[in-house]
Amino acid sequence: MTFQLNTPIVVVAPDYAHLCERVADQISAQMQARPNAVLGLATGSTPLGVYEILVQRYQNGELDFSGVTCFNLDEYYPMLPESPHSYQAFMQEHLFRHINCRRWLVPDGQAGSPAQVAQSCREYETQIKDAGGIDLQLLGIGRTGHIGFNEPGSPPDSRSRLVSLAPQTREDAAEAFGGFDAVPQQAVSMGVGTILEAREIILMASGAAKAEIVRGAWSGEVTGRVPASWVRTHPNAALYLDQDAASRLEETPQE
Ligand code: GLP
Repeated sequence: MTFQLNTPIVVVAPDYAHLCERVADQISAQMQARPNAVLGLATGSTPLGVYEILVQRYQNGELDFSGVTCFNLDEYYPMLPESPHSYQAFMQEHLFRHINCRRWLVPDGQAGSPAQVAQSCREYETQIKDAGGIDLQLLGIGRTGHIGFNEPGSPPDSRSRLVSLAPQTREDAAEAFGGFDAVPQQAVSMGVGTILEAREIILMASGAAKAEIVRGAWSGEVTGRVPASWVRTHPNAALYLDQDAASRLEETPQE
């Protein structure tokens, strides 16, 4: 496969708080420019500080989410939306119950048979398309190099689908689920291709535990072995890091 390798912007903030401010500023600017913006959102601990700032700005009257549509990247499978472990519950708790967003969607983790899951994934893709596509996609990165739940081996043209979680990903989620065996083995995730169709991408990472995979994604080859490396083929992508996450990048750019 041939692709154009771009040189996305790397922003290194001094610490997590500043990192979140910078990312929240980008999202706020997008919403101010386009009150009907379509946002792609991520779960995990990394974006929590960003959501906190967006909630504050909404509460201060600086942001209005009433025209905004949000699509989340992924959901565990099988997973009931009302489960406290669901990403649906996570987004409700940390963002949507605090703001006035009227339309937010999370992939369906409870569709039954493989055919039903495939159908609900096709519908999710159609919903994104019908909304006009994603203007700004926020991504975290897993320690396997996953974006969404696209684990190593995910091709760059993959679409929303049922995926298997890597053991490392399940280990990282074990504490939240009360043990490794309680973590679902599968998930429903937007594909790498779905993500790369967003008009703008922000990949954020924080902390020393992410330094090695950030280096692999940004300084190594672009490869399906590190799905986040595909982001470097996107014409309008930026990597937002704190100093710890940036500590192994070969050349550490400064703010
Ligand atoms: C989960 C999510 C990813 C997220 C990753 C990193 O696996 N599906 O979208 O990027 O966790 O999580 P954290 O930000 O907690 O390190």
